[in-house]
Amino acid sequence: MEKNSNNTLSVTDNRTGKQYVIPIEDGAVAAKSLRNIKVSDSDFGLMSYDPAFMNTASCKSRITYIDGDKGILRYRGYPIEQLAERSNYLEVAYLILHGELPTGVELKEWTYHITHHTFIHENVKKFIDGFHHDAHPMGMLVSTIAALSTFYPDAKEIFDPELRGKQVYRLIAKMPTLAAFAYRHSTGMPYVYPDNELSYTGNFLNMMFKMTEPRYAPDPTLEHALSVLFILHADHEQNCSTNAMRSIASSHVDPFSAVAGAAAALYGPLHGGANEAVLRMLKEIGSKDRVPQYIKRVKEGEVRLMGFGHRVYKNYDPRARIIKGVAYDVFEVTGKNPVLDIALELERIALEDDYFVSRKLYPNVDFYSGIIYQAMGLPVDMFPVLFAIARTSGWLAQWEEMLLDGEQKIARPRQLYLGSDQRDYVPMESRTADKSASLAAAISNKGD
Ligand code: ACO
Repeated sequence: MEKNSNNTLSVTDNRTGKQYVIPIEDGAVAAKSLRNIKVSDSDFGLMSYDPAFMNTASCKSRITYIDGDKGILRYRGYPIEQLAERSNYLEVAYLILHGELPTGVELKEWTYHITHHTFIHENVKKFIDGFHHDAHPMGMLVSTIAALSTFYPDAKEIFDPELRGKQVYRLIAKMPTLAAFAYRHSTGMPYVYPDNELSYTGNFLNMMFKMTEPRYAPDPTLEHALSVLFILHADHEQNCSTNAMRSIASSHVDPFSAVAGAAAALYGPLHGGANEAVLRMLKEIGSKDRVPQYIKRVKEGEVRLMGFGHRVYKNYDPRARIIKGVAYDVFEVTGKNPVLDIALELERIALEDDYFVSRKLYPNVDFYSGIIYQAMGLPVDMFPVLFAIARTSGWLAQWEEMLLDGEQKIARPRQLYLGSDQRDYVPMESRTADKSASLAAAISNKGD
């Protein structure tokens, strides 16, 4: 294949000798244009094969820009560093969803609507009550988000802009309530209702931690730190859960069902669960002097250094740098998390070591976020839940962008079929013994 100067690609099919000219638009060729490349009229046409979407753009987007080599992250063009320093989560959520920073009036109105949708129907509490005492809060969250779709049948009207906006308010507002209720259930504590006088993150801390005091007053440093952490997690373009959101919603299902699916994708340890893995690793290391020994095991391929490396960032993850700064503010209030020294030593040694330098392995967003959450008194199980609260604005923005994009259709990848050709049904008595024996073994291996 060769690239022409006039933004086309010339391809010669060596099977037929035919030449094709394929347009290049926005730095990409449309996979569908490959379908014209055929060996005969009855041929389906050439497909591209790309498991895990390693080199396939599934959409055109105007929301989040990442340059992984340079360590750049921007929402709607604004650098993440400026947003983390000068904005708050609800303002950033508005920006992500609407494309522009709000005016004073717009922000007031937006904040009012989010604040006044924080309550959940009393019946939702009954679902949460039904979970076992040690149910994982992420399982409770995923289920109760899906359950909300049954309370709001108008959510099906996805092409009505006003109703779409209403579901956006509801979802951003109710996620912290569902999350906090799930946490209170797991600790056997009574649910705490939202306090409309508090900020988005202040109210979340209230619903999580209020005890006997008549009114909960969040610590401003922790309230701010949580807002920064939420900003950093608000969107990250086409990651696993966002791709799930777009794919599920492409069937035109309501946004509650789609967000439940996206949150389920986030639950996995390769995605939203990595910050939890970092804390388990730091606990396993145990003390600063045992860091070199652990690094040795990493280099021998025995274990991975959790919270290091990223599919996209081949430079310091810009979010990790911001989080590291926030950590010190939080520790001023909570006292230092003792695992911080181990983390700092790991980072120091790794950043000097050729194994990590040559592979461009730097701390990612999850390296420090768990340490902060833990210092704030949040249990490890809640980490992916916090991620889901923050990412809801991103999921919803991507959902709306997808719905309004005339080029999008129901998501439906192709496959390369490598299985058996057509064959006739084999009666039981004619089937060979070893095949059924291996099937029986496979069933029994699943255990009980
Ligand atoms: N520790 C040690 N070695 C690593 C690590 C790590 N954390 N990450 C990558 N490597 C090595 C690999 O062994 C490989 O080495 P090799 O070339 O000698 O085989 C090389 O670096 C490239 O690694 P890949 O696995 O090809 O990188 P990929 O882009 O597929 O993986 C991932 C990215 C999954 C994030 C990986 O770096 C990892 O497992 N990190 C630890 C888990 C983690 O922190 N995940 C959170 C990501 S952030 C988020 O999801 C919000």
